[in-house]
Amino acid sequence: MMMASREGASKLVSSMMLVSRSFSTATARGIVAKEAVPAKAVGFNGDVVRRNIGEFWVRGSVFGLRHGSTASYSGKEQQQEEVKHSQPVAEGGDKAEEKNAIVSYWGVPPSRVTKEDGTEWKWNCFRPWETYSADLSINLTKHHAPVTFLDKMAYWTVKSLRWPTDLFFQRRYGCRAMMLETVAAVPGMVGGMLLHCKSLRRFEHSGGWIKTLLDEAENERMHLMTFMEVAKPRWYERALVITVQGVFFNAYFLGYLISPKFAHRMVGYLEEEAIHSYTEFLKELDKGNIKNVPAPAIAIDYWRLPPNSTLRDVVEVVRADEAHHRDVNHFASDIHYQGRELKEAPAPIGYH
Ligand SMILES: [Fe+2]
Ligand SMILES: [Fe+2]
Repeated sequence: MMMASREGASKLVSSMMLVSRSFSTATARGIVAKEAVPAKAVGFNGDVVRRNIGEFWVRGSVFGLRHGSTASYSGKEQQQEEVKHSQPVAEGGDKAEEKNAIVSYWGVPPSRVTKEDGTEWKWNCFRPWETYSADLSINLTKHHAPVTFLDKMAYWTVKSLRWPTDLFFQRRYGCRAMMLETVAAVPGMVGGMLLHCKSLRRFEHSGGWIKTLLDEAENERMHLMTFMEVAKPRWYERALVITVQGVFFNAYFLGYLISPKFAHRMVGYLEEEAIHSYTEFLKELDKGNIKNVPAPAIAIDYWRLPPNSTLRDVVEVVRADEAHHRDVNHFASDIHYQGRELKEAPAPIGYH
């Protein structure tokens, strides 16, 4: 039911964008603010509520926000437009919203998303149909015993990375989690991108693996967005992330090109280490060495947690996510080990 609801909502948003884009390809000038473009509000269950945003365009002109537009207006025409359309200013509406509104010539209407209870959805980085309840029953102790040379190389590569990581972060698990998520979100994006290009090159389907890997990258990035709320990076940690990303992205890219079975196996082992790190994090929380602060609002909405959830609850759901990533990546490696391509096995889309 949930999947159906998500698909329905996605289709509605897609169709909404198509409508607005067909309008935006016109090169006619002076049409901004003349049309009352109907915006659609997409509810939690895909309900659509129409709303007139003609006023939105007009008010934007009043506040001079068209300066942010990428439209190729000449300065004079633009000034005339602004004067012309600043006359019929409508009353009412949310003042803060008006000030923040970005006006564009391209006619892309803002989407209005609401929660199940009808209140406004406040996150632009993810939508209600992308949220989920983590499966905490997943086996956290599963391990792939390295047998082949490549497996052992993947295993010991990860183990050797753990030593400097432990030394650098020691018991600062909040900071450690945040920093490691900046790395963890890279492999899914690289793998998904390479499979995407392969699908284009070969004129063939991916079996859903592009989506699965990109979803993994997005899920890891949401871990980062969550931990950012409880740990703030210092300047040298930000510098370290830039350096590590430069090296790791390119290394993983090359590694995936040469041997996807090695690349996925290595990520599988990285995820096993992540489970271990989050288990240590939970122990520190239980001992009282780390304050069990209230869960960040973004985490409550993303994992559909109860409103009174704490950091401990968040770490538990993140650890469950890592266990799912472990399974997906070891599974992908196993497919390659059997001399098959990923597209031959249906991808675990929505596996949380
Ligand atoms: Fe993660
Ligand atoms: Fe992960």
